[in-house]
Amino acid sequence: MKGIKVLATGRYAPDNLVTNEDFTKIVDTSDEWITTRTGMKIRHISDGEPTWMMASKAAKHALDNAGISAEEIDMLLVTTVTGDFYSPSVASMVQREIGAFHAFGMDLNAACSGFVYGMDTAYRYLLTGAAKKVLLISAETLSKITDYTDRSTCVLFGDGAAAAVLALGDGIYSSYLAMDAHDAHVLYARTHDNLNPFSTKGTQHPDGFTGAKDHFLYMDGRAVYKFAVKAMPEAVERAVEQAGLSLSDIDYIIPHQANIRIVQTAAKTLGLPMEKFLINVAEYGNTSSASVPLCLDEYNERGTFHPGDKIVVVGFGAGLTYAAAVFEW
Ligand code: ACO
Repeated sequence: MKGIKVLATGRYAPDNLVTNEDFTKIVDTSDEWITTRTGMKIRHISDGEPTWMMASKAAKHALDNAGISAEEIDMLLVTTVTGDFYSPSVASMVQREIGAFHAFGMDLNAACSGFVYGMDTAYRYLLTGAAKKVLLISAETLSKITDYTDRSTCVLFGDGAAAAVLALGDGIYSSYLAMDAHDAHVLYARTHDNLNPFSTKGTQHPDGFTGAKDHFLYMDGRAVYKFAVKAMPEAVERAVEQAGLSLSDIDYIIPHQANIRIVQTAAKTLGLPMEKFLINVAEYGNTSSASVPLCLDEYNERGTFHPGDKIVVVGFGAGLTYAAAVFEW
């Protein structure tokens, strides 16, 4: 069985930094509440940068680090819930910007599990030989779907993008991807309404998604929290087991950076020390699918990983999706 090789990583986050203190000026909150409930301190918020631009900057950074040109990429896969257009895809916009004109491409929406779903999708294309090098990019501008009058959500989200150049390798690879839509209504953002001139009935198909204001992201925080503390350990355990490993073989776990308390609870459930979990939630907040690769790239840049290290990436989010993958550095 072949594994997946991360040839290089890269990232981009807007320069515009928003602190917990900044939120106290727009909603009734405090640095103390945000810090103790989430572990967040600052987020990077778009100052006009669209998703495709952040994605392209992260992609260029990863290609530079890999020392390869954009023409060498066969497949451009972008994970996002915040594309700039219904069509074309962010992948298409990235191709235009970076000149990866030998690649086919598409976007993938698995919400905050996006990077893990994307890595797994890339692996399948690599295995068949349909692609030899995949540029996987996770890019999000959550600020455009955040309701900045809702203190229970607005303090949580940030913007950013990160990328990985992937190829087949000799190490281990295994994954566990899951989705349970029973509670999909606890976390969502709706697209615009269908106002076509030929419709006489308006919206006739109630879907149970009723909490949101306009097209903003709605989240029942307690329900998502309950789901997350169960889903994250489950996905890790299943992926590790499928790899024929035990949890003690794992060197690092890179979790979706939604809330430090969720990670601490998952660590306890798994019986693993927090030192194995790589964290950067304080500097980025929750950037949906970009959060895992932003963390991967930061620690990669610091020289954290060594050949043979066994790494788990794990995400959870709208859908409700959850997923983990194990790979060797
Ligand atoms: N500042 C001050 N008080 C606040 C704030 C705020 N920003 N937000 C909520 N509160 C208040 C609430 O109104 C509530 O007050 P009440 O007791 O008077 O009713 C109190 O704080 C406690 O609220 P809870 O919702 O119980 O707070 P909790 O400890 O659960 O923390 C949080 C909320 C951080 C949202 C938590 O539930 C959470 O992390 N949920 C999971 C989020 C997540 O994982 N999302 C991932 C998917 S989304 C994505 O990734 C794009």
